[in-house]
Amino acid sequence: MAAAGDRATNGRAGAAAAVPAVLADGVDKTYPDGTHALQPVHLEVAEGEFVTLLGPSGCGKSTLLKMVAGLLEMDNGTLRLWGRPPAELKASGRRLAFVFQSPTLMPWADVRENVRLPLELGGVPAAEAGRRVDEALALVGLTKFAGSLPNMLSGGMQMRVSIARALVVHPQLLLMDEPFGALDEFTRHKLDAELLELWRSQGLTVVFVTHSISEAVFLSQRVVMMAARPGRITDEVVIDEPYPRTREFMVTPRFAAYAKRLQDSLHRASGGLDDADEAEAGPEARRTGAAGAPAPAGEGARP
Ligand SMILES: Nc1ncnc2c1ncn2[C@@H]1O[C@H](COP(=O)(O)OP(=O)(O)OP(=O)(O)O)[C@@H](O)[C@H]1O
Ligand SMILES: [Mg+2]
Repeated sequence: MAAAGDRATNGRAGAAAAVPAVLADGVDKTYPDGTHALQPVHLEVAEGEFVTLLGPSGCGKSTLLKMVAGLLEMDNGTLRLWGRPPAELKASGRRLAFVFQSPTLMPWADVRENVRLPLELGGVPAAEAGRRVDEALALVGLTKFAGSLPNMLSGGMQMRVSIARALVVHPQLLLMDEPFGALDEFTRHKLDAELLELWRSQGLTVVFVTHSISEAVFLSQRVVMMAARPGRITDEVVIDEPYPRTREFMVTPRFAAYAKRLQDSLHRASGGLDDADEAEAGPEARRTGAAGAPAPAGEGARP
């Protein structure tokens, strides 16, 4: 577990030497109908890191995340979680959890039963399961709603149930596919802040998917940009800012500079530049954000 103190400086020092929590090397995917969803990508996520995948619709973010989770088979390449094949994750005593965009709760079961489900499926004894459910509900602030049915809860509260259901297995790796995409901005920001607190307090490694540039900048240590047809990684930006991050960070010039940098990158990833512009900008310009954005300190591709 990364020390909380590491977070304040982004915890990057020494990360290169450690075994990454996630290593996807040359991983690609063509669906059975012939859709070339992802060309070979290389993604490394250090233990304790918060990385966000950003990119236009259809660029393969969910495909990549599902392959990391073992929910989808890759065609080629190597996937390692803490240096071991995903099938050996359980034997290594580590766990991952996946949070989908929709809370996917059982409507007939109360909050407690919904959160307990993965433990039941995993054969955890009842007393231990009950203790862990209480702990997870407390972490997401839903203790008072343990007996409520999902349809009695707001969208934000339902997402909290979904997060509690992920945390109850005590994961070290949390994979989140647009978890707050359907929520209003206020609720989304509140849950973003809560997620950062969980990340810090639980020592999680998080791979997060969003369409929101401001959410990506607010949350992440590093943002990985993807482009479509075929899906691929085109850029990455290190958000070299201390934690805890507050609402005040979101109105600073540095926040705006990161957002502009990512906006330009997303524009290019979405095919916003024609071929002549691309040729003029060149790969180096694309990497360093020379398209006019002020360059926040520490940004740019990692070596
Ligand atoms: N089961 C499937 N069968 C065939 N094609 C698929 C399947 N799932 C996804 N695709 C295609 O693969 C490509 C990548 O899809 P994916 O869902 O990974 O993109 P995404 O980046 O998550 O998009 P979004 O932002 O809209 O969620 C798209 O062209 C999509 O239509
Ligand atoms: Mg998706």
